[in-house]
Formats: sequence, C-alpha cells, structure tokens
Amino acid sequence: MLTLHDRFKGRDFLTLADYNSDEIQTILTNAMNLKQKQKCNTPTPYLQGKTLGMIFQKSSTRTRVSFEVGMYQLGGQGLFLSNNDIQLGRGETVADTARVLSRFVDGIMIRTFEQSDVEELAEHADIPVINGLTDLTHPCQILADLLTIEEYKGKLAGLKLAYVGDGNNIAHSLLLGCTKVGMHVAVASPANYQPKDMIVQVAKEAGKESGGQVEILTDPVAAVANADVVVTDVWASMGQEQEAQQRLKVFKDYQVNSQLVSHAKPDYIFLHCLPAHRGEEVTAEIIDGPHSAVWDEAENRLHAQKAVMALLMG
Ligand code: CP
Ligand code: NVA
Repeated sequence: MLTLHDRFKGRDFLTLADYNSDEIQTILTNAMNLKQKQKCNTPTPYLQGKTLGMIFQKSSTRTRVSFEVGMYQLGGQGLFLSNNDIQLGRGETVADTARVLSRFVDGIMIRTFEQSDVEELAEHADIPVINGLTDLTHPCQILADLLTIEEYKGKLAGLKLAYVGDGNNIAHSLLLGCTKVGMHVAVASPANYQPKDMIVQVAKEAGKESGGQVEILTDPVAAVANADVVVTDVWASMGQEQEAQQRLKVFKDYQVNSQLVSHAKPDYIFLHCLPAHRGEEVTAEIIDGPHSAVWDEAENRLHAQKAVMALLMG
C-alpha cells in the first residue's frame, strides 16, 4: 500500500478534479493539525530550506500573503515573482520558465489567466505546481472553504451549498470540490453566465461516487432554499473589468441579501472568497452579519495551503 508521503509527494495541485475524496479529506485533516499547531506556537519545520516560487500575473492579497507566510511558517521561503518583473511578462515561454525555475526552487505557485498555462507549466516543471487561480478554477480557495464548512458544521457530506452569481472560477471549483466530498451544490446564475458544461459533467460524475448532487439553476431562491452554506463572488472577475457596468445590470437579481437568505436554513453560514463589493453581489448586512464566516474562510487559506505544500513538497 502507498504511504501518505508516496501518494502526495511531487504531485501538482492544478484542479480538485485530480484529487479523490480521501485525498481531499487528508489535506483538510492536515490543515486542521497545522492550524492547531500554529495556534499553540508549535514549530512545523516540514519545508526547512525549501523555496516556493510564486508567479503572479494578476493581483492578489490573500493568495500572496497566505502562501508567503505559509512557507515561512513551514521553515521555508516564498519568492514573489511579479509578471512585471520576470521575463515571462516579456514573452519568455511558459515551458522555459518551468525548466529554469525547476533548477532553483522546490515548488511553483502560479496565478494566471489560462488554465492551459498552468498545465503547461506543470508539464515542463519537475517540481510541484500549485494553481493559485486561473480564469477557470481556484482550487486552493475551495480547500479553505471546505475547511471552514467542516469547522462550522462538523461535517461535509450531505450538506447543501448554494452558490449565487457568476458561473466563474469559484463556481467551477466549488462544483468540483464539493461534489467530491458528497455535498449538494446548487448554482444559480443568469442564463448566459452559467458554469461551463464540461465542469458540470465532471462534478456530476464525482457526485455519482460520493452521493453528491449538482443543480444548475437560474432562480436564486430555488438554489438557496434550505441551504446550509450560501456563497457568492464578484460579478466581474479579474480580466473582466470592461464588462463591469453591463454585469451590474445582468446580475442585479442575484444579490445575496436578507430577503434571499431567508430561504436558507436558520443556521446557514455565508462564504465569499473576497475581495467583496458590498452593495453589489452581497449586502453589508449579510457579509458583516452574524452568519458570515468570511474572515475564518480567509484565514483558512493559510492552513489549507500549508497542508498542500507540506504534502506535495515535503
Ligand atoms: N480569494 C483570493 O484568492 O483573494 P486574492 O485575490 O486577494 O488572492
Ligand atoms: N472570481 C474572482 C475571484 C477572486 C479571488 C476573480 O477571478 O477575480
């Protein structure tokens, strides 16, 4: 039988579709242990002397800080590589960047536009590559979301999560991750902004094994009905700034507000990957209200990613 170490060491973390339910649960359990140790100031030098190269082709607060601090807390170092400063931003190929970085660092985290760039980087790197967000997916965020849900609800399987808004990277990774662990995911988006069918099909397949369910709807009330977890995200993602005005109109009936959440379970929790636009996708009353778990969710990025790095790069 493969040991835990053999199962994770050297692997990439490009999408949750590549990890089975046991593996996702193992990452979450390790994240909880690391979180506990951090709270007690117990050292966790699992990546002593190791370096993570962190390529950012888009802005970030949480991802940059949590990866950099996470590496430091594991005894290693994070190296911020801005697109403005490295040769990738001037046309050096993804493949050459992968080959060169593999000679210097022990892992690469990349935030970029195309999922295919992350895949290409992983193909040409001989060290683990971690997806820090693409236009298609954001798997690290959903690990933090699952960790937060498990902390608040004590379980994952059987819970209903409603995602209301744009069928974007967050919606995609929620579909892929939540169905793996046996959750019911209901997504409500306007007709032309629904999650990609290719992702929905993979999520439905995962649900067949885990007991998870998928519903793709246009009606936010139907999605939120009886939900344990209500999630939304910005209406215009990074790279869609020029569509922002038009999107305000398209999504106006998809705001998470007190009227909408009155259809959720009385003890529902609210999640948002952040950054948030109060008054657009969510009202201040909800994101700053008693059901909101968004600050724990943000913190859990750190613990979840430390688990991923320790398992893949350790
Ligand atoms: N949620 C998230 O990924 O935040 P940043 O864009 O600040 O990294
Ligand atoms: N959907 C958002 C998520 C930000 C963390 C974006 O891609 O901009």
